[in-house]
Amino acid sequence: MKSKKIAIAIDGPAAAGKSTVAKIVAEKLSYIYIDTGAMYRALTLKALNQNIDLHDERALVQLLLHTKIELQKNEKNQIVLLDGKDVTMDVRSQDVTNNVSYVAKLPAIREELVHRQQLLASHRGVVMDGRDIGTRVLPDAEVKIYLIATVEERATRRHEENKRRGIPSSMEQLKKDIEERDRIDSEREASPLVKADNAIEVDTTAMSINEVAQFILDAASKHLNNN
Ligand code: CDP
Ligand code: CDP
Repeated sequence: MKSKKIAIAIDGPAAAGKSTVAKIVAEKLSYIYIDTGAMYRALTLKALNQNIDLHDERALVQLLLHTKIELQKNEKNQIVLLDGKDVTMDVRSQDVTNNVSYVAKLPAIREELVHRQQLLASHRGVVMDGRDIGTRVLPDAEVKIYLIATVEERATRRHEENKRRGIPSSMEQLKKDIEERDRIDSEREASPLVKADNAIEVDTTAMSINEVAQFILDAASKHLNNN
């Protein structure tokens, strides 16, 4: 499975494990990894910092057109640069998490970010995760994966993650926030969160990170060996 390079699209609801396994898969295949959620988060952060009304689509588009968002990889981590400044931690803040779906539902914002994402993925050898990668950003991706897990499991995973980072959090609140974000992401008009017809759905509720990553690597191998 070595010479030909493909695109792997990983979609699914919040905290299903997309970015964790996408990074492992990209690393194993020596592909680039693109975290599209970080792009929506970076714009949301900038809008919050500038007190821009998150429902004002025109103002947000103007802001986006003057915003540079870069995703870089250093030795171990993915770095998010917003107008040249490292905002890797800031884009994961509670405030951004609770507001990002309002920004992401605006069609003109999606159009511009999808365009940027497609440019970033213009060469194969890419693993991209988000909500609309298999349906909208890379509809011709060779391997499409849709990761799910129960909301209890996803809240537990985020809770554990917060504990590791020393961030206090409540399971009940996490569950509510995850459900609300999934609802907005699934119900929006513009490329909602939905499984692509030809995506493989993987219920990861009882799977370890490595098991999920291996499943995706096997799906990639299978594609490469058959084509
Ligand atoms: O990591 P987590 O699941 O918490 O979220 P994320 O992937 O960082 O995405 C944050 C938010 O950005 C999502 O809840 C969506 O509202 C939006 N998003 C989107 O609409 N389309 C994408 N391709 C990626 C993210
Ligand atoms: O990107 P997304 O929001 O889908 O999820 P993530 O940030 O990759 O994963 C959320 C948390 O679940 C992380 O702390 C992962 O380490 C953990 N995780 C897990 O415990 N088991 C899995 N099979 C996948 C992720």
